[in-house]
Amino acid sequence: MAENAVPYDMHAEDREAIEREMRHYEDPRGASIAALKILQKRHGWVPDAAIPEIGKLLGISAADVEGVATFYSLIFRRPVGRHVIKVCDSVVCFLTGCEQVKAALARQLGAGLGETTADGRFTLLPICCLGACDRSPVLMIDDDTLPDVAPQKLVQLLERYP
Ligand code: FES
Repeated sequence: MAENAVPYDMHAEDREAIEREMRHYEDPRGASIAALKILQKRHGWVPDAAIPEIGKLLGISAADVEGVATFYSLIFRRPVGRHVIKVCDSVVCFLTGCEQVKAALARQLGAGLGETTADGRFTLLPICCLGACDRSPVLMIDDDTLPDVAPQKLVQLLERYP
């Protein structure tokens, strides 16, 4: 984070929720994912300025928090759309047509992987195996895992996420 960045004013409710999480772990580092998720729930993503604040609260370095945030693909470090579509591109989904699904989504949304639609409705991201390989290709939209996806089903599927 740049030295002159605006300090992050953590919401009291979030601070309390993180402190509650910390009680479950002997090593405060264990609570970092939970802390990141709490702040992501508030903002839809985790702003840079929040990282050192989480570090201070947990008593660990900002670099440690950043490491977790970078490693964990469900923590978003940039603003995302109202709904986040994650397309599994691991091997089984690759073999069963995730490339066609990705291409159809990109056409339909007018946004490619890593991008957000112009109306801010969807962000499209790749993700590793979602553990539903027997019903691939698989998508996740927000917290919903959606199996057996086919390009021709996408219009109907996306309508469920206004
Ligand atoms: S490879 Fe896609 S769900 Fe496992």
